[in-house]
Amino acid sequence: MIKYDEKTKIFKLDTLTTSYVIGLADEKYVGHAYYGKKLASTDLAYLLRIDEPPFVPSKNLREKVSFLDTYPMEYSFGGTGDFRESCITVTTADGQQGLDLTYVSHRIYNGKEPLEGLPATWGENSETLEITLEDVPTGIRVLLSYSVFEDNDALTRSVKVINGGNDAVYIDRVLSACLDMDNEEFEVLSLHGSWARERHMERVPLGYGSYVTESVRGESSHQDQPFLALLSKNCTQTVGEVYAMHFVYSGNFLAKAQRNQHDTVRMVMGIHPESFRWKLEAGESFQAPEVVCVYSDEGLGKMSRTFHDLYRNHLIRSKYKNQTRPVLINSWEAAYFDFDTDELLALAKKAAELGIEMLVMDDGWFGKRNSDEGSLGDWTVNEEKLKGGLKHLVDEVNALGMKFGIWFEPEMISPDSDLYRAHPGWALQLKNRSGSQCRAQYVLDLSRPEVRDYVYECVASVLRSANIEYVKWDMNRQLTDIGSAYLPADRQGELSHRHTLAVYELQERLTRDFPDLLLENCSGGGARFDPGMLYYSPQIWSSDDADAIERLAIQEGTQLLYPLSTMGAHVSDCPNHTVGRVTPFETRGIVALAGTFGYELDPRKISEEDQAKIPGQIADYKKYTSLIREGDYYRIASYQENHRFDCYEVVSKDKKEALICFVQVLGEPNFRSRKLKLQGLDADAEYVVDGKTYLGETLMSAGLILQRAWGDFKAQIIEIHEK
Ligand code: DGJ
Repeated sequence: MIKYDEKTKIFKLDTLTTSYVIGLADEKYVGHAYYGKKLASTDLAYLLRIDEPPFVPSKNLREKVSFLDTYPMEYSFGGTGDFRESCITVTTADGQQGLDLTYVSHRIYNGKEPLEGLPATWGENSETLEITLEDVPTGIRVLLSYSVFEDNDALTRSVKVINGGNDAVYIDRVLSACLDMDNEEFEVLSLHGSWARERHMERVPLGYGSYVTESVRGESSHQDQPFLALLSKNCTQTVGEVYAMHFVYSGNFLAKAQRNQHDTVRMVMGIHPESFRWKLEAGESFQAPEVVCVYSDEGLGKMSRTFHDLYRNHLIRSKYKNQTRPVLINSWEAAYFDFDTDELLALAKKAAELGIEMLVMDDGWFGKRNSDEGSLGDWTVNEEKLKGGLKHLVDEVNALGMKFGIWFEPEMISPDSDLYRAHPGWALQLKNRSGSQCRAQYVLDLSRPEVRDYVYECVASVLRSANIEYVKWDMNRQLTDIGSAYLPADRQGELSHRHTLAVYELQERLTRDFPDLLLENCSGGGARFDPGMLYYSPQIWSSDDADAIERLAIQEGTQLLYPLSTMGAHVSDCPNHTVGRVTPFETRGIVALAGTFGYELDPRKISEEDQAKIPGQIADYKKYTSLIREGDYYRIASYQENHRFDCYEVVSKDKKEALICFVQVLGEPNFRSRKLKLQGLDADAEYVVDGKTYLGETLMSAGLILQRAWGDFKAQIIEIHEK
């Protein structure tokens, strides 16, 4: 519900349990009055503290500099008085910067308009407030959009810049959201990592100065996640305050929390300004991506569930989002580049016998791709490997009762490829420099329309050639050499963003032209696990590290923000290919239950005893997948924090059933049985666990006693049903 009170000049945006309040200063600046627990009153203009003396002498003259440097801004701008973090910098034709953005008008409407060329939340039961600001001397206008969904507790924000002047200007920085607050001894939570250890949580106190998490890698990255949250000191899974932002974008991002002189905090998020410069001709506009804002007064758990529900109901579009995904077997860790039709069919035959439903042919099927040293861009089937062609293989796999999926890495070009030999100018490159190779590949210049068309046609023609029901869209290197032989000099700064827009355009075309295709995004594991990708694909490969114990931290960090149904999670072989660890087959199965289930191994090469467990694992997946996909997620114990055990719980929306997954990482000597305090149950309902009846309240307040697990890396699942 969005309301505007003409008398107090207050906008109030209410979600189920939160209020977001915007006010107008007499000088027409748009101020941020409040974000937090839902308020009934609209008499909130006093929160903008217009009488507070910001400077000596102790009279508030509302001189511009001291005023702007302390006023809580809805959208900050620099150069005219506010020395805190600016959201926007525009260079005009005279080479100058500096803006003074004041209120012009607003409109409130039902629904939410799509963001042109960008992924964004959607849904009819929404309402949007659009506030137009203007810098009068230059005619630069900024449209701030805020949307709320009736059934969800999140708020989404985006920004559009319009050049209403007569000359071209350059946008050097355009962030999408700004949140000014009083500091309350906040701590900052963010997610970090590297290849094969993505999304580990970090929580530190917010000191004076700035805390930054960012990517300038051309993708959201393994290293950082476009997410930042401010937490009250007492914040746990169940109590305390959280102010979170998550960016619906897959390229360079900046997320910053700045603690300022008067103990105020400014949190901002948007496209990273580093090497960004967008030319805007007179009359043109630039749409910046969306930020999702979540406030929780019930700790991190409520924040996670709010993100999960928003993404499930209002971001993911794929028809598969509410469907049981096929159990897949992926050829990557089973065979790497070493396969041919006979090998794949033998693998598929064995997999089919065990109940696996789809064969995914990973990297290595095209051009002369026998290692990762060439052929990217040459998307023609390698008939030396796939004798009889792709259709023959797919038909044979289908004849085994299995679906067929395929891998692509469409954004790349190998120096050793026919494509590069024919079009060396199609790679991103800096003039007069040799390119920086990474995994022996360059990145295609997707700002070129003919390159986008080429790439699209390559993928589409392969898909048209056989009954291919799944695509894994991979991206195995970060962007360097950000130069285009196609774009003019004054548009080179647009290149990184144009790359991301091109990926969106290609995936939009793909999902539109092949509506039945199940698309899984991937980036060298989980380097593009971001909300932008979820708009196109209902699942994303979480990490190249499929070791069950390493996955505990990766999956916990992922689950903090993303519905479990979006996490690609597979059972892999042992010793694990990334860390060499040996874990029980059962544990690997239970850990992979947390996401979309599959196998990353050759079932012919594992012990008969483990092979025999596969049908049971698949049955468990089928049994629990709808609960895991649609239920509410609760984090019960964090291995990242306690270094001993991990536990999460999923409760059905009607609270009639729940599932607990527990992993004891290391066996403990002199162990006393452990109590797990459950969450999310109906306090008054009776539940049955292992044949014994408990009151919901008892399980949540006193806990469930867990018997000792004997040994290391032991996992168990516990089912709970209402009596
Ligand atoms: C990285 C992916 O994460 C892997 O699963 C695999 O597809 C390789 N790329 C193939 O090159």
